[in-house]
Amino acid sequence: MASVQLANVTKEYVSGTAAVSRLTLDVADGELVVLVGPSGCGKSTALRMIAGLESITEGDLFIGGERMNDVASHERDIAMVFQSYALYPHLTVGENMGFSLRVGRVPKRERAERVRAVARTLGLDELIDRKPRELSGGQRQRVAMGRAIIREPQVFLMDEPLSNLDAKLRSEMRAEISDLQARLGVTTIFVTHDQVEAMTMGHRVAVLREGELQQVAAPYELYRHPANLFVASFIGNPSMSILRFAVEAEHRRLAAGPARLDIPEPVLARRPGLLGTAEALVGLRPEHLRLAGDAESGNALDGVVRGVEALGSDTFVRVECAGSAESASDAAAGGESPTPGGPMVTVRAPGSASARPGQHCRVAVDLDEAHFFDPAGDPIR
Ligand SMILES: Nc1ncnc2c1ncn2[C@@H]1O[C@H](COP(=O)(O)OP(=O)(O)OP(=O)(O)O)[C@@H](O)[C@H]1O
Ligand SMILES: [Mg+2]
Repeated sequence: MASVQLANVTKEYVSGTAAVSRLTLDVADGELVVLVGPSGCGKSTALRMIAGLESITEGDLFIGGERMNDVASHERDIAMVFQSYALYPHLTVGENMGFSLRVGRVPKRERAERVRAVARTLGLDELIDRKPRELSGGQRQRVAMGRAIIREPQVFLMDEPLSNLDAKLRSEMRAEISDLQARLGVTTIFVTHDQVEAMTMGHRVAVLREGELQQVAAPYELYRHPANLFVASFIGNPSMSILRFAVEAEHRRLAAGPARLDIPEPVLARRPGLLGTAEALVGLRPEHLRLAGDAESGNALDGVVRGVEALGSDTFVRVECAGSAESASDAAAGGESPTPGGPMVTVRAPGSASARPGQHCRVAVDLDEAHFFDPAGDPIR
């Protein structure tokens, strides 16, 4: 096994696109790191540079402490799993898995043994003589995994290996891959644009945006302490609601349209910078918002229910807040057009909640748990 280090790794395509900019990332021996970010942010490019399928424009790549920039792909001792499984249709499951060993002139006997062992690990024993077309999507994905595992590489590189699977199978395979990775202890870099996949699989998660690393941290750390507005709105499902407020320092409160929220003392104590800013973007997770009774005192926003998503265990209620303040969520997500009407927030309510679209409601706001960013998207401290 081996560690993987990227030091200021940059990729500029001949077209002039800077797909990855000065990416610095240390992946420890045996660690599973997920690279996540929106489409086009440079995830595959980063992975392909590690694999040696793409040249590195600038910076250094080390695998197991050795500089790999100029080492050919097949000498890097890595195995890659892609979104398209790329199995050979005319070969059986066993032959597909053993293919690299055959190319590597591993004796037939040893080959058969290793294929059997890997098939057993992946629960494919029964299917070893089948052709890929006789397998389900999940089984094919497992064969593709088997083909990578059998080579006993130092590093696994996986580029959206689950995106062809349906939701249920995806979540099963997520657990399978995590479990397998833990058992084999192979250093793994896993690419996905799905933040749920990232959060559930990664020991640590690296968030990329337009080729630049935003933050790398353990999943819960990303969720609790996002480094900027982009990470805050990207991580979490449903995503954080972001509202733009004027900061009224003299009243120690936030104002937007008719809404007034008193800033609790502990919040000010933690963020002395807050009263020095004219405007703040306030990020609120669904669990820090609550449908409140009309008579309740405390910080709250008035609004109208616009959407209800009942999941059984929880109900997520989309509320359009009264007033002229615009929602900042769209700006955060890099979108062009702001949502028409008032700003929207997503509230987590109990599964038994009976909200109806069109209904007026009050949303209690727990500012103690809120995230505060300046208009540029950096945290206010
Ligand atoms: N061979 C290439 N030549 C020129 N530009 C490229 C090439 N491959 C990718 N790009 C550009 O580099 C940027 C990053 O692409 P990349 O494929 O790494 O993104 P990604 O994060 O993997 O996206 P997705 O989630 O859609 O797979 C994009 O702007 C893309 O258009
Ligand atoms: Mg990609």
